[in-house]
Amino acid sequence: MRNILLFLILATTASAGEVSGQRAAELENLVKQDCGACHGMTRKGGLGPDIRAKTLKGRDADGLAQIIRDGIPDTAMPPWGPLLADEDINWIAEYLLEESEE
Ligand code: HEC
Repeated sequence: MRNILLFLILATTASAGEVSGQRAAELENLVKQDCGACHGMTRKGGLGPDIRAKTLKGRDADGLAQIIRDGIPDTAMPPWGPLLADEDINWIAEYLLEESEE
């Protein structure tokens, strides 16, 4: 239930253009809470695979953005395109490549 509310908040505050500092903080929280539900709070993996920066090293941001936008058919990885703007998804892809919890 909490997740659904968070989705609604994020979806309605999504706007075109650059990701602001505040939006970045919201997305950071989304990665921790919502992606973390499957990939682990520290992205080490759980139901979904390890998606820490060191594991994704060498992957390309556009390819990751596409996975995040469209999901992976026939797996638990959901498409985020209906919930997040492209700028948000691109920001998350870069964030996964750059930031690690540890
Ligand atoms: C309901 C569970 C679930 C949620 C929530 C989820 N994922 Fe996933 N994700 C998966 C699973 C399962 C896979 C692996 C699918 C497969 O290929 O078997 C995956 C795969 C991925 C991959 C591909 C990893 C690789 O090495 O190719 C990326 C990137 C990814 N997820 C990012 C995210 C991000 C970012 C979020 C949050 C916006 C997220 N996921 C939310 C379950 C989830």
